[in-house]
Amino acid sequence: MAGRGYETRRLRTEPRRYAADDRSTDSSARTNGLIDHLRASFALDWRGVHGAPHWARVRRNGLELAERTGGCRRVVSLFAFLHDARRESDVDDPQHGERASALVEQLRDEGLVTLGDEQTALLDSACRDHSAGLLDADVTVQTCWDADRLDLGRVGVFPNPDRLCTPAARDRSLIARAYRRSRSGCID
Ligand SMILES: [Fe+2]
Repeated sequence: MAGRGYETRRLRTEPRRYAADDRSTDSSARTNGLIDHLRASFALDWRGVHGAPHWARVRRNGLELAERTGGCRRVVSLFAFLHDARRESDVDDPQHGERASALVEQLRDEGLVTLGDEQTALLDSACRDHSAGLLDADVTVQTCWDADRLDLGRVGVFPNPDRLCTPAARDRSLIARAYRRSRSGCID
């Protein structure tokens, strides 16, 4: 979830294109195995504000955005599942990004996340800094952060376009759709 201290920096607007196999997400079986693993160690309410329904909406937001930004779909999808997976509080937990970053490395070592070095670095960065309020980053990382910030409606906050990284996310109709989903609790 986005935090305080937002920085306004010059944005990188050129979509970055990835190789064809980077445009896919993982198989259902692999994803289900990862989710089972994460659920077994999740410390908070699985259906809470940082639990599975939020992960699903972040993934949905992210994959929609990636179609426009050119961000790596595999990284965006994995970010949705991992970025809050090591939260220890639903309220104030400033280190949860660092723990999510460590989780990326752990899951890669365990074979539950299979990414190349470049994608791993992007996922690591996206997870580590997702609550720092930054705007400037690689477009895949920006897509991840926007996907998360677009789900702020679940805690009663309408996403501020000035705090979104990509032009795609600042689209008023997209923000409105994401907000409606976040308020209703719907995933799709
Ligand atoms: Fe989040």
